[in-house]
Amino acid sequence: MSPSDKYKTIHYQSYLNLDKLLDSQHPRSLQVEGKLAHDEMLFIIVHQVYELWFKQIIHELTSVHQILASQKIDERDIGIMVHRLSRVNKIMKLAVDQIDVLETMTPLDFLDFRDYLFPASGFQSFQFRIFEIILGLNDKKRLTYNNEHYKSVFNEAQKQEIKSLEDSKSIHFLIQKWLERMPFFKHKNFEFLSSYKEAVKQMIEKESALINQSHHLNNSEKEMRLKMLEGNQDYFDQVLDEQKHNQLLKDGSITFSFKATVAALFIRLYRDQPILQGPYQLLTSLKDLDERLTNWRSRHAQMVLRMIGKKIGTGGSPGFDYLAKTVEKHQVFSDLLNISTLLIPRDQLQPLPAEIEKELGFYFH
Ligand code: HEM
Repeated sequence: MSPSDKYKTIHYQSYLNLDKLLDSQHPRSLQVEGKLAHDEMLFIIVHQVYELWFKQIIHELTSVHQILASQKIDERDIGIMVHRLSRVNKIMKLAVDQIDVLETMTPLDFLDFRDYLFPASGFQSFQFRIFEIILGLNDKKRLTYNNEHYKSVFNEAQKQEIKSLEDSKSIHFLIQKWLERMPFFKHKNFEFLSSYKEAVKQMIEKESALINQSHHLNNSEKEMRLKMLEGNQDYFDQVLDEQKHNQLLKDGSITFSFKATVAALFIRLYRDQPILQGPYQLLTSLKDLDERLTNWRSRHAQMVLRMIGKKIGTGGSPGFDYLAKTVEKHQVFSDLLNISTLLIPRDQLQPLPAEIEKELGFYFH
């Protein structure tokens, strides 16, 4: 391309391809009945806006995925990933808020054109599935309905694309591998896990002494609290004993490997160390994204209940009941959220040996 071609003027209309974009709303009520159901325009535009945002989200997540898949990830890369994920999180916030706009359509307004949609449904959103798969929602974990595979609604080319994406490594997988490569756990006289386990032991002993010595609790209340404390201890043991952890992995009740869990815990506990700031923010932005997606699922399910009650969906699912179940079941990074259960107060944490602190800090001289 010659320099003069390169900077040739372009019109707003053509740059944004507005002729095509604005000619893409064709209400079915008008086509079928010859009479426009007023709110169908809003219904179409809201869905189209979602699909555009899904496109942008996939664009950002694909770049995060590429960085994570590279051999070496340095501080700069972490900054880029955090920045792009925070953009996705802002979009997801809009995605949740946008439901308010659609809800200005009342259930009766929706009934004016709902029958013309059959059997189309958001369940057939290809981009939404790509979004979920890149993040790491795998086939085994996925809920479906009517004993049909979720892929059955797509054409052959789309099925192939989904399959190859499912076969490749997701962000969930790559983050795990990155965590497993984290150094700093063992250093001469310091071994993070045993120092942490000792701190947990002391914390539980302290809490149990406080319960036993309390003048405000009667004996049965004390017994109940001590039992709950035992439950906490069991949780720590289950997650931090490698063998028990591997059993939970096998059962499918957790998804992060032992090593990755310990690394994520280390980052959360010692996040004030300058070099752990980036990794901490990366884990936080993934947690935020999972939370925002869960918010969207929950908000969408609520809207569906308000709009069609307990009727079946146009895509043939049990509607609200199916969607409400996905809210918990389709979370991808719940293991990162569960790390909070393993946190202990800062003052009970063993300080890091000076040499490690030095390695984790930034020094200008
Ligand atoms: C009046 C508004 C809406 C109603 C009544 C509604 C209803 C439903 C129902 C019943 C399902 C379950 C599948 C089925 O049986 O069809 C579903 C799935 C879905 N809808 Fe909506 N929906 C609405 C708006 C939207 C909007 C604005 C979006 C934005 C893209 C959307 C995206 C989706 C997606 C992605 C799924 C698949 C969810 C999953 O399988 O996890 N829906 N919707």
